[in-house]
Amino acid sequence: MSEFHELHGERILVLDFGSQTTQLIARRVRELKVYCEIHPYNMPIAEIRNFNPKGIILSGGPASVVDPQSPRSTKDIFDLNIPILGICYGMQLMAEQLGGKVAGAKTREYGRTGLTPIEFADLFFGLDAVPSFQSLGALQVWMSHGDRIEELPSGFKPIAKSDSAPIAAMKHEEKKWYGVQFHPEVAHTLQGIEILRNFAINICGCSPEWSMHTFIDVTVQSIRERVSDRNVVCGLSGGVDSSVVAVLLNKAIGRQMTAIFVNNGLLRKGEAEEVQAVFADHFHLNLRYVDASRLFLDRLKGITDPEAKRKIIGNTFIEVFEKEAHEIGEVDFLAQGTLYPDVIESVSFKGPAAVIKSHHNVGGLPETMKLQLVEPLRELFKDEVREVGKELGLPHSIVGRHPFPGPGLAIRILGEITEDGLALLREADAVVNSELIRNNLYDKVWQAFAVLLPIKTVGVMGDERTYENVIGIRIVDSLDAMTADWSRIPYDVLSAMSNRIINEITGVNRGVYDISSKPPSTIEWE
Ligand code: XMP
Repeated sequence: MSEFHELHGERILVLDFGSQTTQLIARRVRELKVYCEIHPYNMPIAEIRNFNPKGIILSGGPASVVDPQSPRSTKDIFDLNIPILGICYGMQLMAEQLGGKVAGAKTREYGRTGLTPIEFADLFFGLDAVPSFQSLGALQVWMSHGDRIEELPSGFKPIAKSDSAPIAAMKHEEKKWYGVQFHPEVAHTLQGIEILRNFAINICGCSPEWSMHTFIDVTVQSIRERVSDRNVVCGLSGGVDSSVVAVLLNKAIGRQMTAIFVNNGLLRKGEAEEVQAVFADHFHLNLRYVDASRLFLDRLKGITDPEAKRKIIGNTFIEVFEKEAHEIGEVDFLAQGTLYPDVIESVSFKGPAAVIKSHHNVGGLPETMKLQLVEPLRELFKDEVREVGKELGLPHSIVGRHPFPGPGLAIRILGEITEDGLALLREADAVVNSELIRNNLYDKVWQAFAVLLPIKTVGVMGDERTYENVIGIRIVDSLDAMTADWSRIPYDVLSAMSNRIINEITGVNRGVYDISSKPPSTIEWE
């Protein structure tokens, strides 16, 4: 349950049945400035009452309601007297629980589909028909389902149909219960946000009050009350989350917070300088800048295995951080940039996702240091953290920054890490990113970087034969790093990157572009 109830005002509850797009539902609702939380489908009714939602959204999910073992939420939600919207599996479950009939459809509907609303009212109020799609239906929506509703429960009527589903959306005449077979939360449903607005604001009656401005005020106040006159330490990496945490804490408690920035020698070009300029010079943060690059690089000498690199870097980070924190004196709290997606109890029907790479974070610190955690971003999605950062005056170069892994450039040098390799990779990485910025592409992609390969190839420069390094260029599109696709960057831009890398950086004679998606590849090369 949330800490600051008064801030959240009128809110929506999303019950999660394990759909890949459940988080998107909550993000979209929050974009409408209505606070919203995701809880597992089996949340007990007492907790639901305590949460006091103005409406409930039942998410989609991979199961089939035809299977008696499929996940079900309590039927008591239908006695709460609040609007309910079932999406895909959520709609089918609602139909089944209320006495309708669901069966496997002859044709699975998957992907972009035309949807014809019977009336442009309720959920479909104010929507525009899409001219190019009129032959298929008036609206373009995204479907992904095998089952369909054969018989509506009593009191319901269909409110939209598609080519293969005569009941593609339904509504209960009096109760304000709705179901849609398609996914309004995904971008392929062109007016999905309007449909969610109709539900959350018009039908549930929530006022759009959730704003990052109020979030900051309330959070600052609550940090002050909790911390009182004690001290907080915070690991600043220069990434979006830790930067926002540091500036938020600085606003709340000023010099009672010490931000520790560890230069591990594996940073990108200009990164250490930028962190000092922004946080120490501009924000006047109590910043402890530690140059531990020698220690890290010495310990990494001769190490080629990616997991071994990660372990060494993780352990050395903890060691350096603890030593610095002890020097500060009495400290009671550790501030961390935990986000909402890290704390949502996930509903998984396939078991926990296999650990593919051990991700280093500072999660080990509080146990060894016996510190209490301050996690001011625990209820925010990444886009909201960026908004908070903007409100706090952080520059775009920080709030709009791509994710950067804790082990830094170490996992982008395949094989042994050397100073020469690092210097070369820093320059190549700077070229890739500056070309993206110059072509207004930086904000459109998820991550972009250079990789130094452990091979040499033959080239020719002037009349000379060369035998030099190869730089891999990796640029990906993604929503959450769980899956990713290689970005379709215009050839001219790729060409400029490769030319500049080869011409400007001594020791490189070839540039290659990575065209693998995740899965089966990963975003990083190690
Ligand atoms: P992969 O390579 O697993 O990366 O597809 C997914 C996302 O995680 C980042 N990444 C890491 N982040 N420590 C981190 O803090 C790590 O060891 C690590 N390995 C990968 C990667 O940059 C991408 O955003």
